[in-house]
Amino acid sequence: MDTQTIVILDFGSQYTQLIARRIREQNVFSVVLPCTVPLSDIRSLHPLGVILSGGPSSVYDADAPAADPRLLELGAPVLGICYGLQFIVHHLGGKVRPASKREYGHAEVTIEDDSTPLFAGMPLSLQVWMSHGDEALELPPGFHRTAVTSNALAGIANEERRIWAVQFHPEVHHTPLGPAILKNFLFAICGARGDWTPAHFIETTVAGIRERVGPGHVICALSGGVDSSVAAVLVHRAIGDRLTCIFVNNGVLRKNEFVNVQRNLRDKLGLQLVAVDASQRFLRQLAGVIDPETKRKRIGQEFIAVFEDEANRIARETGGVDWLVQGTLYPDVIESSSVKGPSQTIKSHHNVGGLPERMKLKLIEPLRDLFKDEVRRIGRDLGMPEEILGRQPFPGPGLAVRILGEVTPERVALLQEADDIVVSEIKAAALYSRVWQSFAVLLPVMSVGVMGDQRTYAYTAAVRAVHSEDGMTADWAPLPHDVLKRISSRIVNEVRGINRVVYDITSKPPGTIEWE
Ligand code: XMP
Repeated sequence: MDTQTIVILDFGSQYTQLIARRIREQNVFSVVLPCTVPLSDIRSLHPLGVILSGGPSSVYDADAPAADPRLLELGAPVLGICYGLQFIVHHLGGKVRPASKREYGHAEVTIEDDSTPLFAGMPLSLQVWMSHGDEALELPPGFHRTAVTSNALAGIANEERRIWAVQFHPEVHHTPLGPAILKNFLFAICGARGDWTPAHFIETTVAGIRERVGPGHVICALSGGVDSSVAAVLVHRAIGDRLTCIFVNNGVLRKNEFVNVQRNLRDKLGLQLVAVDASQRFLRQLAGVIDPETKRKRIGQEFIAVFEDEANRIARETGGVDWLVQGTLYPDVIESSSVKGPSQTIKSHHNVGGLPERMKLKLIEPLRDLFKDEVRRIGRDLGMPEEILGRQPFPGPGLAVRILGEVTPERVALLQEADDIVVSEIKAAALYSRVWQSFAVLLPVMSVGVMGDQRTYAYTAAVRAVHSEDGMTADWAPLPHDVLKRISSRIVNEVRGINRVVYDITSKPPGTIEWE
């Protein structure tokens, strides 16, 4: 079967991969290319349609992203989004100017031309998400207006040339009918079949890895979580036991995690796994450290040191290692970068950062364009057990960023017990898969309590549970009172050293999910 491809040209919008995601949701294949790609590369893909993303620039900026305007003459239908609309107007003979009123956020759009196929089946008024500072002043010849807001143009079309454009973002969650608009573009306009499934992703990814790696050896840092496990299974499918996985006990894993993860990965997934217990090394590095970034950096550095030792040993045994697999997802990429240079570091993520350069390893990141729920879907298609796929995210620096103040072996043990109670009660209430994350945090705050006739003076645990789509934003979850009650009474009764439990009711932003 020939693959139908939608080309998405990226003009630097933070939402570009969301467009790709919405397209995958319709079982259509797309590739995201930088807008500067040569026209011949686009042409060689025989695109079924081309989508021009939004972007932070103005078409008049000196450093405005430069795409070849002849892409508008390829013959494939074009959909411009936000900056994409302005690009079309600018290059086809219209005029763009800075908007008198910038529009950011929610807006209401009135559809003026409901006969254009892009808006088929839409009500005449739509809630949308806008984010732009320029507006189209004069339309290019042959174009007409299809939609407006109260103070700006919101859509244009030239049906004859098969070009449509909208000023708002149909790909974001705040445009509720956005998926229907994209569906119109894909099916009614481009004639997509909608037969591209996770099985195709697996097939093409596995074949691609096999070709890239050739006869080489690959190592993978496994955490036991969903992302690295799915990435490892894909690579294992491609090259079998030329993949060696390394799982490090950093001393701040959850209760029984070191044993459970080995059982899952070695016994259930059949991966070739080296498990290294380096807890003492990590805990020594963490002694006396209170500052969150220092904790993260020390764990990151120690991880690299441990990993490098193992990788060198494996390289000696196998005659050389050339590749490193990472389970990087799209939100990881976005949270660590921005279009015009690195954004301010909110938290330093990525525990193997720096390793590929040091060891001269080439990276394999098969999940780099995907979101977590899509990775779970792929894992299901790979036949991986729900016990692994259903796991909530867990940060690389582990319990260290959930122990406020110093990380000592005693405090790790306290938090492991409290966390185990939170997770088991959430599971018992059938809530585990319905929240994004649920866990306990150990605070350095001590307070007075009473147990029997005894006065106690002990630590406080905070319970955190959040709903989220991708970890980039989150809402605190209103857990049922009886679940909170059981969690609280079990922690105070069963964990000697904690005598008070509080519930965190902060969303992200302004809070973050982890406390450090
Ligand atoms: P924050 O705390 O930044 O977390 O709101 C967002 C998501 O990322 C996870 N997280 C990490 N994951 N290494 C990881 O692999 C890290 O250093 C790290 N820090 C936070 C966090 O659990 C949440 O899902």
